[in-house]
Amino acid sequence: MEIIRKTALLQARADSVRAEGRRIALVPTMGALHPGHLSLIAEGLARADEVWVSIFVNPTQFNDPEDFEGYPRTFESDVEKVRAAGATVVFAPTPDQLYPEGAETWVEVGSLSEPLCGASRPGHFRGVTTVVSKLFLAAKPHVAVFGEKDFQQLAVIRRMARDLGFDIEIVGGATLREDDGVAMSSRNLRLGPAARSQATVLIRAIHGAERAVAAGERSAQALLEDVRKTIEEAPQASLDYAELRDPDSLAEAPPQLDGPTLLALAVHFSPDPDGQGADVRLIDNRVLLPQASPRTSTE
Ligand code: PAJ
Repeated sequence: MEIIRKTALLQARADSVRAEGRRIALVPTMGALHPGHLSLIAEGLARADEVWVSIFVNPTQFNDPEDFEGYPRTFESDVEKVRAAGATVVFAPTPDQLYPEGAETWVEVGSLSEPLCGASRPGHFRGVTTVVSKLFLAAKPHVAVFGEKDFQQLAVIRRMARDLGFDIEIVGGATLREDDGVAMSSRNLRLGPAARSQATVLIRAIHGAERAVAAGERSAQALLEDVRKTIEEAPQASLDYAELRDPDSLAEAPPQLDGPTLLALAVHFSPDPDGQGADVRLIDNRVLLPQASPRTSTE
């Protein structure tokens, strides 16, 4: 497996792989790799001849400098994991490769970037779409794989690829979870032990909403009320947002759900009372699937 640090070298490698008629899948990451990331490599291997993984902690998508500084950096072990998972190239550019001195060009997707994480993290998606464009131009992949855990990110990148005419298939990979249901995330490592045990409130709130919908609840207000109550049960948790939205347009859901609806959650956790852990924000989501109730379908 090769570690490449320069964009021009990666582009030359892409050209020679493409000249042989071989397909490249790219899995962009910021490192601190866990099995969720590795499952995206497996998705890539199913769709291409080579999987390339980029590891770059992208400064422009962090709106909080402390979050950027504190982001876990575990390069050596990441490289081993990527090798074991079957990738053939790690692209780990130095910042100047992606952001040359004086760079002032941005890629920004419109309305899909605005709600949810776009509202609580101003500028975040502009940083994501800008760096992902640069990674696409560097790796020239046929396929790129992103996790459904970051549902809005996947939607924004799909729109960017469509709008800019990138000739790249964007593939979504299912969310991998810990045994207790918490979505795997590099940020889980920064929770104190007490906060970590409370992090299950996100999936518990999601399961509660799924059960309510299966039992016939269609009121967005009632569903969100229950979600908020569940989150409030965890003493170190405070809700950033809980919203119901159209899974494609991310427009607000109607007061009575009438089709597949995204439940998107973001929750802050405070450090443990004994000082362990940091302030950490976790996200999770689920597309709720209300079937037409027997009464409405026969009327
Ligand atoms: P990062 O947070 O490192 O995530 C890299 C990829 O792994 C993303 O596509 C993310 O959705 C996916 N992922 C994270 N947790 C997952 C899980 N539990 N199961 C499955 N997939 C999971 O997302 C980013 O980096 C950056 O924004 C990036 C796209 C690399 C641009 O800088």
